[in-house]
Amino acid sequence: MKKIFLDLGKQPLANSFLKDLSKKTTKSEFFYNLKICFNTSNFLVSIKSPVNPKKQYTKKYAHRASESQTMRSAFKSIAKNLQKKFKPKRVMEIGSNDGVFLKNFNPKNVIAVEPCKNLANITKKKFKTYPEFWNLRLSKKIIKNKKEKIDLIFSANTISHIPNLKETLLSLNNVLSDNGVIVIEDPSLLSILKNNSYDQFYDEHVYVFSAIAIQHILKDYNLRLFDVDKISTHGGSLRYYICKNLAKYKSTPKLKKFVDLEKKNNLDKFETYIKFSNRVKKSKKKLYELLKKIKNENKKIISYGATYKSTTVFNYCKMNNKIFDYVTDTTKNKQGKFTPGTHIPIISPETGINETVDYAFLGAWNFKEEILKKEKKRIKRGLTFVSHVPYPHIISK
Ligand code: TYD
Repeated sequence: MKKIFLDLGKQPLANSFLKDLSKKTTKSEFFYNLKICFNTSNFLVSIKSPVNPKKQYTKKYAHRASESQTMRSAFKSIAKNLQKKFKPKRVMEIGSNDGVFLKNFNPKNVIAVEPCKNLANITKKKFKTYPEFWNLRLSKKIIKNKKEKIDLIFSANTISHIPNLKETLLSLNNVLSDNGVIVIEDPSLLSILKNNSYDQFYDEHVYVFSAIAIQHILKDYNLRLFDVDKISTHGGSLRYYICKNLAKYKSTPKLKKFVDLEKKNNLDKFETYIKFSNRVKKSKKKLYELLKKIKNENKKIISYGATYKSTTVFNYCKMNNKIFDYVTDTTKNKQGKFTPGTHIPIISPETGINETVDYAFLGAWNFKEEILKKEKKRIKRGLTFVSHVPYPHIISK
């Protein structure tokens, strides 16, 4: 049974940055109700009513995986690691974005799957790219086109975005070779609960996985989880290693340890989520009070990183340009636009980060280390960072 535990209110699509604030643009802004539920039978946490993916993954999709140094080196390192560990002949990535992972393999042996046409256009110059959604039809097309099945399927921050999980798993099983491995990375539910990072809930994160939920679900698809890695990307993620039931891989002690940890933290109990929901309500109140106090001292506050996560925070906590003068972001196609729902201008860091700024809210808190290092000199000169993770606070210098 699915039980709702968190209501984040009316939300726009996290990546629907507005090109202007004309009546025509603001009137056509799309909103949906962001309610999160827990399935008491398989422990899966998901959005109650997901948005249609055709509305989300369009040719205007803004996220570029290679935008940050942290992500570029993380993808390079995992690509090398998987190559060494599994020696795959054929590799496929689902949600290949701008090719930041696949470019580390021999282009002749890789397949990219990416429904956002602007991104698929980048990778199609280098490797075979299917500019399509991952589904049964595409999996059949791929096996028909290429005789051999796939030895390594990688997918970072994508499987949790696809509403039809059943079809996704059936399609993965279809193309996987007998001893092939599926490696998926997605934000970790345990990290979200520990960090109170409710902003990991937005339209694209239809599911937030845990090892216990993945174990449960795979049972119906002739697949099994045999290992898991804890990784630091996106504020704490898990990398799941999945194979066919009869494949040669043994379940690792690391997996058992992590499953035990999730159980110890009661991820299989509904009460855990009610407690989390209460912490989220407190976080909203505290953040509002903290920023209001700074504003009352006539200080200038901006937000650092026009993240999708910030869309959830700003709309849930009702924060607009009365609090933040603007948001800075390094991504060219976010600059000059306005934040979804709250209409705060987004500008480049070169223009926006200067001596007039007193406080910066860390919208991109998942890059805290990288950003604090980058802004070391400005911090020395007086810039102060504020974060809501794990609770609203001023980051001490
Ligand atoms: P991302 O990590 O993809 O978070 P989300 O999935 O919530 O959108 O986005 C990070 C954003 O922050 C991205 O738009 C780039 C931006 N950014 C900066 O503006 N400056 C920086 O120094 C870093 C590391 C990121």
